Amino acid sequence: MSCRVVVLLSGRGSNFRAIAEAGLPITIAAVVSNRPDAAGLVYARERGIAVCALDHRAHADRETFDRLLAEEIERHRPDLVVLAGYMRILSPAFIARFEGRLLNIHPSLLPMFPGLKTHERALAEGVKVHGCTVHFVTADLDHGPIVIQAAVPVRADDTPETLGARVLRQEHRIYPEAVRWFAEGRLAIEDGRVNLRGDPASQSVLASADVAM
Ligand code: GRF
Repeated sequence: MSCRVVVLLSGRGSNFRAIAEAGLPITIAAVVSNRPDAAGLVYARERGIAVCALDHRAHADRETFDRLLAEEIERHRPDLVVLAGYMRILSPAFIARFEGRLLNIHPSLLPMFPGLKTHERALAEGVKVHGCTVHFVTADLDHGPIVIQAAVPVRADDTPETLGARVLRQEHRIYPEAVRWFAEGRLAIEDGRVNLRGDPASQSVLASADVAM
């Protein structure tokens, strides 16, 4: 039976799109947004995927909103919940409810640069390598067991925009890959680390940077 996925997003939805177009053995059961005007919802509707907009501004506190959000997600009986540019901190209760089946993508090589403005901060620090990370979500913001990372070079003339675009191309490679591994039942979390089952080299989940410069 195909793996049922619910996607959460707040904006443009390019990672959602990359996942939807990757020919994965999944059914995207629904796309849920906390922003009714998210561009990602338009694309979901075009593909005939069920969408739901739950405006967080209409709810008094995070716990109430997250409980409604969780109920909406559960309605679609997901095996996996994918955060694809979902720009709200999730409450501990929500995370506990979906732990082990909740993935996120973050635009840095975690544990470096958790939080916002990662490309600006990478440039300010002068790092020579930057990238992105798909990880399981735990109560520890932007931490949690790492599934796959992709590294890109930082160039002397980079701006946050050029660097961000280079990273985003890699996001679109590694997120579908991570979702595929999950759908195939190949991701095992052991001692807070992810092992990829059926990979002879076992830990070779670092996607190298074959970037078009
Ligand atoms: C991506 O950079 C992702 O890493 C971060 O939010 C952004 C979402 O972009 N979590 P998109 O909506 O998938 O285009």
